[in-house]
Amino acid sequence: MTTHAQELERYGSQTRKSLAMYQRAERILPLGVSSNFRTYEPYPIYIDRAQGSRMWDVDGREYLDFSMCFGALMVGHAHPVMVQAIAGAAGAGTLYGMPHDREMRAAELIGERFGLEQVRFTNSGSESTMHALRLARTYTGRDKVLKFEGAYHGGHDTVLVSVKPPRPRVGHLRHPRAVAAGHGIPDGTLENTLVAQWNDARSVREILERHENEVAALVLEPVMMNVGVMGPRDGFLQELRELCDEFGCLLVFDEVKTGAKLAWGGAQEYFKVKADMVCLAKAIGGGLPLGAFGSRREVMNEIAQFRSFHAGTYASNPLATTACITALERVLTPEVFPRVTALGNALAEGHNKIIKKHGLNACAVNMGANGTVFWRRTPPTNYREWLDQDFATFWRYWHMNLNRGVIPQAQCYDEQWTVSALHDERDVEHMLAVFDEIARELA
Ligand SMILES: Cc1ncc(COP(=O)(O)O)c(C=O)c1O
Repeated sequence: MTTHAQELERYGSQTRKSLAMYQRAERILPLGVSSNFRTYEPYPIYIDRAQGSRMWDVDGREYLDFSMCFGALMVGHAHPVMVQAIAGAAGAGTLYGMPHDREMRAAELIGERFGLEQVRFTNSGSESTMHALRLARTYTGRDKVLKFEGAYHGGHDTVLVSVKPPRPRVGHLRHPRAVAAGHGIPDGTLENTLVAQWNDARSVREILERHENEVAALVLEPVMMNVGVMGPRDGFLQELRELCDEFGCLLVFDEVKTGAKLAWGGAQEYFKVKADMVCLAKAIGGGLPLGAFGSRREVMNEIAQFRSFHAGTYASNPLATTACITALERVLTPEVFPRVTALGNALAEGHNKIIKKHGLNACAVNMGANGTVFWRRTPPTNYREWLDQDFATFWRYWHMNLNRGVIPQAQCYDEQWTVSALHDERDVEHMLAVFDEIARELA
């Protein structure tokens, strides 16, 4: 049996060039990275290149990648169809600052797929939720936004509330306290962001009753994917739909992670619940930075009337919209989703068999292309249950995987695996074989 300390030693001996790069990066980039989510102890591996379901680090080590850039690479690394389309588009100019046909086609494809009458483009998921929530405030004439405890919707103030609140500060189960996610978020913001409990319609109702005519939008990830993969209990999304209708607030689905990943048409298709507004990013960009938000014409008209502000220098640039069209038309086609779902389910079933065989205190779940291992006996149903896990074992599992050439999911215990269009059965078998070895050690 190897201890975690021995695994870290092995990690160090195999990633010497990454360490040198980390030491150089740390001087100019806080934490040595450009996004906080990329860091982990003792230092991250630095990547040289990627292809298909694989990445290679600067030390020349090959990894089977199930992070796929936090799920953004649903098309797979350097998919030949994507590479050809992007290279071709680059030659025709990458920014016009003027309208063009590719943004129209991309918007039409998104409109059809996600049932949206009108769409506007952004460059990221954070921008999508920021603009969508401002639009909801404009449309309803209300200031407050309701979100769920433990949910992440990007890096702007309104939603940087109760993302991962420390346990002693969470407050009442059904009326969670609004806790700022870090410093620099004004108290006024906290007054306008209300927090409800996931999978508890009573919590949502009581908060909407208490703040009648004040809540512009209920924003949620239909499957919470910044706490692993935490689905709604049966009927919960339908109840939220009815509550939003009753209280006159907009139901905003943050489909940054579920859109074109849970199913062809995302969570609305998967759960058969219609949202008022949908926020997108990650998979729709086909590997380039692209986000979008959309709704019915009546709501989007607030933008056309210059009442709700939306603009962006890079929004709908010809490169990213070409990648979007190519991804949606040629790679993320309807046939892909049953295939990746079957592979994801096979991963979860395989993990659960191995967990049982070795008697680990863990369980695996999968929905669509997304799955994870929880380090507790049963899947959690809300953030507070999710907190109740053996996170130390996650980190041991993480380093053990990297040492054996597997990136089992995006970094950190709150993420999940992504089965992309370029993963196949052999990748599933490979990951399970490595997990079997790891589980034997952990038992
Ligand atoms: C559900 C959800 N919403 C929004 C965002 C923010 O997206 P971005 O990182 O592109 O700004 C993320 C990022 O992971 C996310 O998972």
